Amino acid sequence: MTEAILLVGGKGTRLRPLTVNTPKPMVPAAGVPFLTHQLARARAAGVEHIVLATSYLAEVFEPYFGDGSSLGLHLEYVTEEEPLGTGGAIRNVAHRLHSGPDDPVLIFNGDILTGLDIPALVEVHRASGAEVSLHLTRVPDPRAFGLVPTDATGRVTAFLEKPQTPEEIVTDQINAGAYVFRRSVIDTIPAGRPVSVERETFPELLAAGAHLQGMVDSTYWLDLGTPQAFVRGSADLVLGRAPSPAVPGRCGDRLVLPSARVAADAKLTGGTVVCEGATVAPGARVDGSVVLAGAVVEEGARISSSLIGAHARIGARTILTHSVIGDGATVGPDNELRDGARVWCDAVLPAASLRFSSDQ
Ligand code: GDD
Ligand code: MG
Repeated sequence: MTEAILLVGGKGTRLRPLTVNTPKPMVPAAGVPFLTHQLARARAAGVEHIVLATSYLAEVFEPYFGDGSSLGLHLEYVTEEEPLGTGGAIRNVAHRLHSGPDDPVLIFNGDILTGLDIPALVEVHRASGAEVSLHLTRVPDPRAFGLVPTDATGRVTAFLEKPQTPEEIVTDQINAGAYVFRRSVIDTIPAGRPVSVERETFPELLAAGAHLQGMVDSTYWLDLGTPQAFVRGSADLVLGRAPSPAVPGRCGDRLVLPSARVAADAKLTGGTVVCEGATVAPGARVDGSVVLAGAVVEEGARISSSLIGAHARIGARTILTHSVIGDGATVGPDNELRDGARVWCDAVLPAASLRFSSDQ
């Protein structure tokens, strides 16, 4: 059976303040740490042994997932003393793999929500005889990703990570963050120093004439690296648009975890999730949003496409659109926040202090 490496050591800087207390893969999406969805999908595809490559806030993974047996997995954890980058992280866990030199090893970025057919990628790898096979997807604006042009047979011709100039934007096909490596290729990555698989390993393999094979598809795909993408991904999981065997309940317009309290006339729509012990008061409306554990949404608040951190409080009649409220923060009544506002953990915004309109 194919084994897998999950890269979960990034600092998640673009997700702050969500990642101040919690590493990106442990931020809850659709009611469970995001990583649970990736682990469950890998398990459903037949993967049994997964090594987590951890670095930032490494200590929180094992207490939560343990040996993985509750998910039917055998999980191991390897922590980098200093962050080793994506390639260095892969090399650093190689000693925990059981695969032989020619066996395929799956590698996943830890922040991707996708309907990728994992066995199909492994089959492309086997049939093409490539050293490395990559899942590719098409996006309207590829600049924030690794560009991966291919020839008519799907063979990769270049790898351009985060292109800087218009001339470098040669394709809309990007690295979707799932690879199959021939085991022996992992062992050629230099050990003990930071290595970027995207900036170093892939370009060097191509320059040396190695066969890298791309598999392009149009299944659901989202990198949850920004607050807006994270909130979108959670809502898509709740709505059933993004596939996961780990959503804790039936898919639909809303997901309310058992110990949450939602007033009878509060309106939850658009894939909103309300986590354990959170409260939504009468007359509140919450659309396409994430309300984390123990948070409180007071009377008549209107929240859309936003994330409310654990134990944060949103005052009565406050309006939040495309905003992120850090853990433990308080936004007093009658505020209006929008357009990417980020309220830091434990910050306090007094009543009626911030508006975008004059109608209050
Ligand atoms: N263990 C470990 N150590 N993991 C790391 C480290 C590290 O030093 N640095 C990053 N990671 C993990 C992150 O936690 C994440 O799961 C994954 O590696 C990718 O890092 P991101 O920071 O999310 O990279 P990105 O989104 O800018 O770009 C990557 O993903 C794109 C697709 O979403 C690249 O692989 C691009 O080529 C790709 O298009
Ligand atoms: Mg990412």
